[in-house]
Amino acid sequence: MAKMKLFIVPSADFATTAGDYVARRMFDFGDAVSFVLGTATGGTMEGIYSTLVGKARRDSDLGLCLRTAHYFGMDEYVGLEPDNPQSYEFFMKKHLLAPLGTPTRNLKLPSEKTVLASPLAEDGRSVYDQMIFDVGGIDLQLAGIGENGHLAFNEPGSMRTSWARRVELAPGTKEANARFFSNSSEVPCEAYTMGIQTILRAKSVVLCASGKKKARAVQRMIEGRPGSDCPASFLLDHGDVTVFLDWDAASDLRSGLYT
Ligand code: PGA
Repeated sequence: MAKMKLFIVPSADFATTAGDYVARRMFDFGDAVSFVLGTATGGTMEGIYSTLVGKARRDSDLGLCLRTAHYFGMDEYVGLEPDNPQSYEFFMKKHLLAPLGTPTRNLKLPSEKTVLASPLAEDGRSVYDQMIFDVGGIDLQLAGIGENGHLAFNEPGSMRTSWARRVELAPGTKEANARFFSNSSEVPCEAYTMGIQTILRAKSVVLCASGKKKARAVQRMIEGRPGSDCPASFLLDHGDVTVFLDWDAASDLRSGLYT
């Protein structure tokens, strides 16, 4: 089992440190003009995207890389139109593509069309998975972790071999995401998500978690064994995973091991 690289930083430095690291890693993959970035959404990512945008404005190589990259979103709610401010398409355009000047055609998200169309091959991969294969796979996958250990919307119980698909959200996920909606009854019950198999095929993964509410899931992910009860723990089987935590998110880790 490969070791995850772990950085524990103060909350105030979290977004800048993680964003700086992501920007550096983007040049590890050779041809930065056709970079493939797997993107995550949610509160944790906002600060990291803002760091990337700020750096891209000062560094023309990074700016070019981010303007020409292919973006593949990890997930999207079922039933929200792209112009709905709670949709992940809207989030990505607002926080990353528009400020960078990246054409919106560079962004793909799992959708009814790309996920529910019949599987393309005997292995069950979806059109969305094939689109990722066709551009050579994801170079760097950004990820968060749910309070229940979900990875994208691969909720507990998800299989390591899963491809992109339509899933039901766990009650705790709907509760956690209700803060983004004016009314908790507006939180969609279902989503399209990238599967674990595709995430594990990314060349590198950077997972970020902040806040006390993530501490239990983070402890389970890092100190347990890979398993469906905590889908993010499947990343223990990946050879190039970097985890950024603030002190709160790291607070359940066994003391002394990481200092
Ligand atoms: P958050 O979401 O950044 O809004 O906490 C992360 C996730 O649920 O994966």
